[in-house]
Amino acid sequence: MKRVLTYGTFDLLHFGHLRLLKRAKALGDYLVVALSTDKFNTLKGKRSYYNYQIRKEMLEAIRYVDLVIPEETWEQKVSDIKKYNIDIVVMGSDWAGSERFEHLKKYCEVIYLDRTEGISTTQIKQALKLQEQNIKKAATGY
Ligand code: CTP
Repeated sequence: MKRVLTYGTFDLLHFGHLRLLKRAKALGDYLVVALSTDKFNTLKGKRSYYNYQIRKEMLEAIRYVDLVIPEETWEQKVSDIKKYNIDIVVMGSDWAGSERFEHLKKYCEVIYLDRTEGISTTQIKQALKLQEQNIKKAATGY
């Protein structure tokens, strides 16, 4: 039984997330997702649209995901690997070479998967904002 672990915020779940989770699960038999809590996101200077409970509920509904655990600190990774008997940590290629994950190679395999081009939570938020501005502009003239 190969156990895989990945980290992320997974806000406004999109097909880039799904493809990452699908490929992560395909590397083993059991996929654990460590989901950033709202408090941890604040610490990272991020604010999600959906709160932790909702993001967790959505991830749990995905067939590739076996377990969702909270990601509350930068330092918990080694203890997560030990606690859940993790064989592989998987991250998107935006994290490739980062010391935050490279040092985990002492404990398990670390694999970076290519991100899906042309989609991100940030991009969705920006596109919605722009769309709203354009609709308002078309209706009011400014
Ligand atoms: N991911 C991916 N392809 C994308 C977007 C995300 O493979 N197009 C991966 C990330 O590399 C990460 C995981 O999905 O391993 C969760 O990413 P997250 O940061 O939550 O999503 P983003 O859409 O990148 O969010 P943001 O724009 O807020 O950074």
